[in-house]
Amino acid sequence: MKILVTDSLDHAALSRLRAAGHEVVELPGLQGEALIGALVECRALVIRGGTRVTSEVLRGSPSLRVVVRAGSGLDNVDQAAARRQGVAVFNTPAANAVSVAELVFGLLLALERRIAGAFASLRGGAWEKFHFMGRELSGRRLSLIGFGRIGREVALRARAFEMRVSACDPLVAAWPAGFTWVERVTLEGALERADVLSLHVPLGPETRGLIGPSEFASMPQGAVLVNVARGGLVDEPALLDALIRGHLSGAALDVFSTEPPGSHPLFDLPNVVATPHLGASTLEAQRRAGEEAATAVIEALAALES
Ligand code: 3PG
Repeated sequence: MKILVTDSLDHAALSRLRAAGHEVVELPGLQGEALIGALVECRALVIRGGTRVTSEVLRGSPSLRVVVRAGSGLDNVDQAAARRQGVAVFNTPAANAVSVAELVFGLLLALERRIAGAFASLRGGAWEKFHFMGRELSGRRLSLIGFGRIGREVALRARAFEMRVSACDPLVAAWPAGFTWVERVTLEGALERADVLSLHVPLGPETRGLIGPSEFASMPQGAVLVNVARGGLVDEPALLDALIRGHLSGAALDVFSTEPPGSHPLFDLPNVVATPHLGASTLEAQRRAGEEAATAVIEALAALES
């Protein structure tokens, strides 16, 4: 069967799909009408976060039966429209949890030890040893908003850094075994005790703009924000204001409300460290996501044939 792939996918996954007898067409970067045009006769579409599967795309693609997102976030897929059109949607929610959690600490350490600025200064020929004073993570209070797969991986690593971890997640009915050392708190409780606030919830109607002016005001003076989840969770003008006023001492960001963000006022601040949505950009995460995505496509197409 014909499969369209519109975001970069691990090569082993593409080979597996072809070895299973499918015709795989790689056309990265398609959106809207161009995507609809490329989907003619396709039974499956494999994407990452770059392709928007809107209700128009779904309505315009009657042969499409399966959408597989190699990765976790499904905010770029209109799932209600997919249900209406009878299109099955799969993701690979576990594939990148470790990579995302590791990036949290990469960014947090870069922010708190001022690594990017120090390297830029060194590269410029300076030796500003006393200018780049940092802060330890040990003993600081980390509040996690969202305690699913990624939140838990972050908690495990925070424990190794001797941080004091609390988490808020109304969707977790029973607190997971082995995590009794993570204090369960409400959103208000998480904000109040956050020396470091890290977001690990999906973007949807209930979470868009979750962290805005009043949430920043509830955080302690000098707190920092880490967002490797979705830019839309945070009111960016409010974040900018909190950073400029010095209420927050820094922000570490991998995601933005619009991606790519172009030149963003947050990037002009010395207390911001940012990366271009690299959470899942490791060989390991991409191998796992590709492998799981290929399995999902092959199984879903086999079920269509039977
Ligand atoms: C995800 O939702 O899986 C991550 O944000 C990574 O997204 P990407 O696959 O588009 O890099």
